[in-house]
Amino acid sequence: MKRTLVLLTSIIFIGGAVILAAGVAGDAALGTQAYENFESDEVCAECHVDIARQHEQNLMSQSFTHEWDEIEYYELALPHAERIAKVAGIKAGCMGCHAPLAFLAGDIPPKKPSEGTRANEGVSCDLCHSITGFEGDVPFNFNFIVSPGEIKQGVRTGTESPHHKIAANPFLGSAEFCGTCHNEKDPWGQWVKATHLEWQKSPQAKAGITCIDCHSPKAAGNSAPESGGADHSDVRQHLFHGAHDQGKLMGAAEVRIHPSTTTAKAGSNLVLTATVVNAKAGHAIPSGSAEERVVWLHVVATDSKGRAFHLPVDAKGFEGENFTIASDTLAYQDIGDIKQLKDFPGLKRDGQVPAGDRIFRLPYLDPEGRMTVAQWNTATFGPDYRLHPLEARNETFSWTLPSDIAAGQVTVKAEVWYSRLVASVASYLGIPNEEVTPVLMGVHETHFTVGG
Ligand code: HEC
Ligand code: HEC
Ligand code: HEC
Ligand code: HEC
Ligand code: HEC
Repeated sequence: MKRTLVLLTSIIFIGGAVILAAGVAGDAALGTQAYENFESDEVCAECHVDIARQHEQNLMSQSFTHEWDEIEYYELALPHAERIAKVAGIKAGCMGCHAPLAFLAGDIPPKKPSEGTRANEGVSCDLCHSITGFEGDVPFNFNFIVSPGEIKQGVRTGTESPHHKIAANPFLGSAEFCGTCHNEKDPWGQWVKATHLEWQKSPQAKAGITCIDCHSPKAAGNSAPESGGADHSDVRQHLFHGAHDQGKLMGAAEVRIHPSTTTAKAGSNLVLTATVVNAKAGHAIPSGSAEERVVWLHVVATDSKGRAFHLPVDAKGFEGENFTIASDTLAYQDIGDIKQLKDFPGLKRDGQVPAGDRIFRLPYLDPEGRMTVAQWNTATFGPDYRLHPLEARNETFSWTLPSDIAAGQVTVKAEVWYSRLVASVASYLGIPNEEVTPVLMGVHETHFTVGG
């Protein structure tokens, strides 16, 4: 990949296009471009209608305007950066990925979305299609190299456009390209986002299945039918659906559950084993903003008379396991530090998750060892108890049947739920409820009989 990169950069040098930008990446690229160097999405939409409509519906077009991002940047990250030297870099750094045009134009901090500046364009068509490669060995922290202008980085050779030139650039289709924004190292040197690094170790990566195969699949079509575009069997659909897409989440984690015995007596012991597998994602579930996501396993048994029993998961005894079993513990006290609140007790660590449920998570810990949703304030991690690609985990639920359980069939239901943000944090910060509404990822039922 690096050889290609060097080759491409030199082609651009020879071509004479925006020589200044070549090779400048990451923090060093701050203020190296003008907004005018990038065309707006509306220009591309004149010809690439379907792709434009697809892009408007994915989160990357909203990476700056999305309400939750606005709240986290302006109410937590920015004030924190302005007060504490250790995290000062995030003032511009957040924008390197979320409002790359503003970052490159040196418009930092950008005006709020309501002001309608070009920061609002987020990860735009022309931004992605001006990226020629990345700097260094590992893609992370917006270390992409941009070369905006007449040449759009594309896929094929031999296609022509009335509006722009095309450079066939294999980098665009690589996982490293995505990694420039989907890997993040924070001011403490921690990998607080590692979707590409997780993917690298996945069975999917070994099989040659990349990010775009799942997030931007190929379909037959024509990307610019009204302006001379050609038909192809494999046009990349710009869906980029992820945690904000119910359908993408449903079935991504599967669950099956079985009892240790098919018949049992009231008062006896029995064990239910649930197997949970990350069946569809080429990275951990949750990935990326793992500090905010909550994925949990909920098991309920119902006897023949309709009486329901919530079963708490059995502890396994590994270090830091308490972070992975829901309880009423408080966390996120660093929100109080950031907002300079005196005696802020914290917020419910597990939000809406019923106590006793297993949470598949990677706890992000602040410099004082408390769980945080501020990825930039993460000094260490707790145990990585997420669901890794194509790996299954068994969870057991030991149950002493109540002496008065009704005779007949007991139904045991296991559900895996996904919430994009801890509910307590969302309500405290005023983040729209839709980010918290749980999505059912997987469900299964089993039965056993209680003898009369
Ligand atoms: C006036 C119409 C028009 C406009 C405006 C336009 N394009 Fe295109 N573009 C085309 C046509 C036609 C093709 C060729 C499609 C084909 O034959 O596959 C094309 C191809 C492309 C390709 C694919 C190249 C390849 O074959 O791999 C990319 C990437 C691209 N355009 C990006 C953009 C971006 C980004 C913008 C806005 C900044 C833009 N285009 C604006 C007409 C246009
Ligand atoms: C997050 C980065 C990103 C954004 C934003 C983005 N694209 Fe793309 N685009 C890609 C990737 C990746 C490919 C496929 C590369 C490959 O297959 O090697 C692609 C492919 C294309 C193609 C070629 C389609 C084909 O297969 O013939 C066109 C045309 C295109 N994009 C236009 C656009 C337009 C127009 C927009 C905005 C409405 C846009 N892109 C936004 C990353 C992006
Ligand atoms: C084999 C298919 C597959 C591959 C390969 C894959 N993904 Fe995903 N991705 C998924 C599925 C399914 C989900 C939904 C489950 C989830 O949110 O974890 C997802 C979710 C995501 C999310 C939202 C994660 C979250 O929890 O907030 C992001 C961001 C993402 N993928 C980016 C990437 C990037 C970048 C790559 C390449 C480095 C990649 N994906 C590779 C299938 C895939
Ligand atoms: C210039 C930086 C940048 C690049 C390059 C980039 N992304 Fe993203 N991506 C983002 C940001 C920022 C978000 C978060 C948007 C938001 O604020 O919710 C995001 C969101 C996403 C999501 C939606 C996650 C969700 O929660 O629903 C998916 C899927 C995704 N990206 C996949 C990709 C893939 C695949 C590639 C490579 C083809 C890629 N991205 C390249 C910056 C980037
Ligand atoms: C290296 C690129 C990068 C940097 C730097 C970065 N982000 Fe993000 N951010 C992303 C990506 C990619 C996602 C989507 C990840 C996912 O869905 O898993 C995201 C997601 C988010 C989300 C969740 C939005 C959602 O809809 O899921 C918020 C809020 C956010 N970022 C705020 C910030 C703030 C504040 C900063 C600065 C402290 C920051 N980000 C720095 C790339 C970045």
